[in-house]
Amino acid sequence: MRLICAKNYQDMSRKAANLISAQVILCPESVLGLATGSTPIGIYRQLISWYEKGDVDFSKAVSINLDEYCGLSPRDTQSYSCFMHQNFFDHINIDPRRVYLPDGMQTNSTLECARYDRVIADNGGIDLQLLGIGRNAHIGFNEPDSCFACGTHQVTLTESTIAANTRFFENEAQVPRQAYSMGMQAIMQAKRVLLIASGADKAEAIRNSFFGPVTPQVPASILQLHRDVIVIADEAALADCPAEA
Ligand code: GLP
Repeated sequence: MRLICAKNYQDMSRKAANLISAQVILCPESVLGLATGSTPIGIYRQLISWYEKGDVDFSKAVSINLDEYCGLSPRDTQSYSCFMHQNFFDHINIDPRRVYLPDGMQTNSTLECARYDRVIADNGGIDLQLLGIGRNAHIGFNEPDSCFACGTHQVTLTESTIAANTRFFENEAQVPRQAYSMGMQAIMQAKRVLLIASGADKAEAIRNSFFGPVTPQVPASILQLHRDVIVIADEAALADCPAEA
């Protein structure tokens, strides 16, 4: 693991955007695994600005998102599909036919999970996987559990995740209770993983994930076994890490 300490949110966002843009410049057909949440927004803003200046071209890139809420259509403003379009896709030249998210409206979870795993396989896997991290160390929507989920799966969200994500909804009752999430296999097979974290409320998750035992109770801890993980976190998110880190 390479741990990069950023001064603050803006610094974290610029450093991470630099790595993503380098990936796309070096390999225009890159398959990007993209993430939602408030943490990546600064990265997307930076990438949009570099795209507008002509520095990076997404026309040949593929995007495969981590997750989607069950029961929300892509037009629902709370859906992750809508989030990605509003915060990124609508402002760059990515081909809409190369943009993938799980279909939250598919009620047959077996079919949907198999379809999404096929999407990942048909695109040859992920070149660069961007990950945020939940306060309970979830990645995508891989919640703490008794084992790591391998493929795309339907998840029942934990109370802590529902509480954390309520800020994006009018009230807690509106937060969907289930989601589709990419599993650990696709994340672990990504050629490179870039995990970002900002703020004191992520400090415990970062410490437990990268300086504690590998356990499905701390989903991001599996990344300790990945051969190319870059963690870019700001000082507040690194505050609980051992001094020698
Ligand atoms: C959601 C997403 C995750 C994300 C997490 C943290 O639960 N499914 O992919 O990492 O939120 O979000 P934030 O960056 O807003 O703290």
